Amino acid sequence: MSVPELSPKNLESILEFTVALARTAGDLILEGSDAIQSATASKDVNEKKNSVDLVTEYDVRVEELVKKELAQKYPTFKFIGEESYSAGSRPPLTDEPTFCVDPIDGTTNFVHGFPFVCISLGLIYKRRPILGVIFNPFLNHLYTGIKGQGSHLTKGNGQPLKLPLSSPPKPLPSLSQALIAVEWGSDRGEKTITSKSASFGRLAGNPAQDVKGGKMAHSLRSVGSAALNFALVAQGGLDLYWEVGCWPWDVCAGIVIAEEAGGLATGGHEVFTATSSGTSFGDVTEEILTGRKYIVVRAIGETEGETALQAQKRIIEEFYSSVEDVDAN
Ligand code: IPD
Repeated sequence: MSVPELSPKNLESILEFTVALARTAGDLILEGSDAIQSATASKDVNEKKNSVDLVTEYDVRVEELVKKELAQKYPTFKFIGEESYSAGSRPPLTDEPTFCVDPIDGTTNFVHGFPFVCISLGLIYKRRPILGVIFNPFLNHLYTGIKGQGSHLTKGNGQPLKLPLSSPPKPLPSLSQALIAVEWGSDRGEKTITSKSASFGRLAGNPAQDVKGGKMAHSLRSVGSAALNFALVAQGGLDLYWEVGCWPWDVCAGIVIAEEAGGLATGGHEVFTATSSGTSFGDVTEEILTGRKYIVVRAIGETEGETALQAQKRIIEEFYSSVEDVDAN
């Protein structure tokens, strides 16, 4: 079967539809938040892999709503969603247009009433992320991007702001001047937690006060939503985000939005080493999209003697030489 062509016009119309859908989903997320925050018992919160991997009735309801609307409007497109995957629906990735959706990214935040929660709605085409919508209904922040057409942030009813917000982008001389996002994830076993803690310690620690390999970054943040981490890197509010263990639906939309804002996304240390000197470096292949190890660095202004891409590589190199390898479980 031949794969349908998606023109820039088709993508604009898909963006319009998915933005409206994300806003509808946002209303349901807010309704769910009210219900959960006013409930006397946490009966609506269930555990998946373990007691820190949470799911609520609303994750499932939002995914059902989005899946149904997308299937009606785009009956030939495929669908990958976090909750459908958990329920056993695991279609292989093909060249066909495929929506890749996390109905509520930041479920732990959602459960706690911490307002960094979003729906993340991405489109994969010919195995590459090509369109992304991330909507945080609590802050009314909408991030959108289409491959080749730029990415934007719309706050409330305001005009879309082109990303990154600072133009030209600021330089980034080293990690010591960076605001870095990391996440604790849901694998809390000894091996993972020890490596992650050691890595976080080195990123934050002061080498002049005996922290071996310390980078003394400006600070570390854990926003609690992979999609919003990507969006914040696209915006320029975060300099870099690294995570091992999240899934394509957490990052698909964010990859497009960050790349279109001049950011650079790639995979784990091994992938970086193997690809960073090639001409296709920065191409988020199927291997990277499904590899569950991600790093993204914001647009960096070029300086005399260093292009933006060289600066991004330098920062990733510095980062990967500071942290330990962690497996995705
Ligand atoms: C999680 C969030 C979290 C990240 C996890 C994700 P969920 O997604 O994005 O920030 O650390 O890896 O699984 O469970 O809230 O949809």
